[in-house]
Amino acid sequence: MSKKIVITGGAGFIGSHVVRRFVKQYSSYQIFNLDALTYAGNLENLKDIESAPNYTFIKGDITDEKFINELFEEQKFDSVIHLAAESHVDRSIVDPLAFAKTNILGTMVLLNAFKNLWQDNWSGKRFYHVSTDEVYGSLGNTGLFTESTSYDPNSPYSASKASSDHFVRAYGETYGMPYVISNCSNNYGPNHFPEKLIPLFINNIINNKALPVYGDGLFTRDWLYVKDHAVAIDLAFHKGNNSETYNIGGFNEWTNIDLVKLLCGLMDDKLQRPTGTSEKLITYVKDRPGHDLRYAIDASKINRELGWKPSVTFEEGLEKTINWFLENKDWLNNVTSGSYKEYYSNQYDKK
Ligand SMILES: NC(=O)c1ccc[n+]([C@@H]2O[C@H](COP(=O)([O-])OP(=O)(O)OC[C@H]3O[C@@H](n4cnc5c(N)ncnc54)[C@H](O)[C@@H]3O)[C@@H](O)[C@H]2O)c1
Repeated sequence: MSKKIVITGGAGFIGSHVVRRFVKQYSSYQIFNLDALTYAGNLENLKDIESAPNYTFIKGDITDEKFINELFEEQKFDSVIHLAAESHVDRSIVDPLAFAKTNILGTMVLLNAFKNLWQDNWSGKRFYHVSTDEVYGSLGNTGLFTESTSYDPNSPYSASKASSDHFVRAYGETYGMPYVISNCSNNYGPNHFPEKLIPLFINNIINNKALPVYGDGLFTRDWLYVKDHAVAIDLAFHKGNNSETYNIGGFNEWTNIDLVKLLCGLMDDKLQRPTGTSEKLITYVKDRPGHDLRYAIDASKINRELGWKPSVTFEEGLEKTINWFLENKDWLNNVTSGSYKEYYSNQYDKK
């Protein structure tokens, strides 16, 4: 089956793994990567596939209604896999409106362009929306988020993602748009932007810088290796039922402090430093406002219905991640220095 799929946010962390997977697995599909290349977007993530015959990069902003309508009209994409978003909770506390604009309005612009194209015949079409477990709010010490858990977001980021999920559902109900939503737990792995916990701490340990742990370090998250998320999206995109939500998670809960200690031990080994060296860098800092205590995903539906489960343990995934960062110091240096942004804006803004 030949398909013309636009993947939004494909230059970002998770998006780049999804784009690579689709380009490599489905040579008969045409894959378009639509990305505004914000600070989080980096085409270096996709260097290995940038000249593949079934891959096209389009620089563009999903909030630009005229541009998106014209693009959809011209290309007639039969599916959207939507990952473009502002994704960092701390940034959402500083600038919540930017999150409302990209995550809510941007999603609506895409939904509308897709509806305008296909509302008379939805056959073979699909809007796949990538969302987060943070929409469900915070858990106490027990329990898991299932697909029927009520939404209860606490940060501007999670509220904007919750809102976008509601609009996707509403387009399904109101216009009959075929959609699938997946809500995933925290991802980690290669190409992770070093403002997020695991890559930030790997980078800080390499550079002997402090490891700032929020509050008492007992915040608990479920962690999933990013390539396993890309496999889950592939499966749910192809085999998931319309109007369904799938929770995706690693069955892998860690308190922040235990995670940081595990990472410190692995980094000491890799860098051949005496055991305990990296742990000395841990410093406790004032908690983030609205910080959710615990997220934990029940991913049994996607496991039962689509046969998905994570392929690596946390220790294996972390080791692969650390190796990738140590082997790709240029990527890390370029991202932290911002020089890749300069390079790509020279490349793309001139045209
Ligand atoms: N990172 C996680 O742990 C996680 C977990 C669950 C769900 N998600 C969701 O997955 C998606 C991707 O997350 P990520 O961590 O890869 O994010 P990211 O910040 O690494 O990447 C986001 C991408 O979107 C692009 N983008 C931002 N605004 C845009 C706009 N207006 N128009 C076009 N492109 C724009 C950026 O340039 C970047 O390439 C998001 O929707 C996020 O909510 C992330």
